Amino acid sequence: MSQEEINVALLGFGTVGTGVYKVMQRQKPEMMQKLDVSLNIRYILVRNVQRHMDKVEDPEILVTSFDSILADPGIDIVIELMGGIEPAYTYIKSALEAGKSVVTANKDLIAERGGELIQLAEENHVELRFEAAVAGGIPIISPLLNSLAANEIRSIMGIVNGTTNYILSKMTDEGMDYQEALAQATKLGYAEADPTADVEGHDAGRKIAIMATIAFHSRVTFKDVYTEGITKITAKDIAYAKALGWVIKLIALARNTREGIEVKVHPMLLPETHPLSSVGGSYNAVYVDGDAVEDVMFYGKGAGEMPTASAVMGDVFSVARRIKDHCQGSTRDYVYRNIPIKRVENTRSAYYVRMRVENKPGVLATIASIFGNNSVSIEQVIQKNKIENDAELVIITSNVKERHIKDALLILESSSVVRGKATMIRVY
Ligand code: HSE
Repeated sequence: MSQEEINVALLGFGTVGTGVYKVMQRQKPEMMQKLDVSLNIRYILVRNVQRHMDKVEDPEILVTSFDSILADPGIDIVIELMGGIEPAYTYIKSALEAGKSVVTANKDLIAERGGELIQLAEENHVELRFEAAVAGGIPIISPLLNSLAANEIRSIMGIVNGTTNYILSKMTDEGMDYQEALAQATKLGYAEADPTADVEGHDAGRKIAIMATIAFHSRVTFKDVYTEGITKITAKDIAYAKALGWVIKLIALARNTREGIEVKVHPMLLPETHPLSSVGGSYNAVYVDGDAVEDVMFYGKGAGEMPTASAVMGDVFSVARRIKDHCQGSTRDYVYRNIPIKRVENTRSAYYVRMRVENKPGVLATIASIFGNNSVSIEQVIQKNKIENDAELVIITSNVKERHIKDALLILESSSVVRGKATMIRVY
């Protein structure tokens, strides 16, 4: 006999939790049609019941203890939207062990302990889904696991942080400097009071770790990801990039190469014609290269109440269908390879180098020979003689090993012809 109702518990009632509640309310009749089962929110775990009373039709569903949810055998799906590692980890673990499926939007937890939780779901014959943990409303986890399963994924390139994309877009479109664009992002609520996780690339790093694990079937955690944020990008670099036909984006990149997995987050100069270059404002996009499909791009809203609720509810629907059809327990650990992680020094790229140099005969030759002695070939040089008696040089290198460009820069910065530190940005 088929189950007539599926009951869920929400853990957390912040922005995304509120969105999930709203979607559940407005989709109720449709959900009956789509699932042929009644999907009900039985509990919402909150810290302070009073604060949320007027947000729900039935205040009885607001509870402050997880134990009552765990002990209720009628709860089929736990939707975790609290974020952070604890107590989210303990709650999810206990729910899975109690035979309840879990849907979560928690990227920090999945990027750090996803493998362990997936195995736990598998052992307990329940589901663990986390579409909303990567790029908010954009479907990417399910496409990587299902629609693109026939591919050997070669690379994933994403703009997966809306805050930094908003800041860089403002700098590009309106000539703002970093501080001004950050201040505007904060005022409009795009950037958090402490923007570190976004602007230093940590948020994007967690998302690319999750995507790389699924795409390459080999465990990649956040600590494997090389991260470099956007705080050192200046209006000047954006202007040079524009003059050269490029835009600067914070790119999360994962490549499966013969020497191992390359996984990093850093600013990158992209040709204006690249599909990711036109992803502006707070939008996100993920560009996947698979051996059969070739290039495919996913684009949309990477955060926000309703877009993220859309991803959460998609997972809830899919789990509810499985429960209804009595085939719960499809979660399998997709990791069956053990590919080493490539050190960033061994990755290759072209580079943009901007430096202030002494303006006198022989300087260019000295700089060129330092690059040459370190196996770095130069593709393009732009010189401007604007800063007092010094010149500003922008050099674009050919595709070289990161350790070679870093060695060359160390020597250049300690030489008498280069003033201060050089700016180095990777080029697509
Ligand atoms: N802070 C993220 C962003 C959204 O700016 O895109 C949540 O991952």
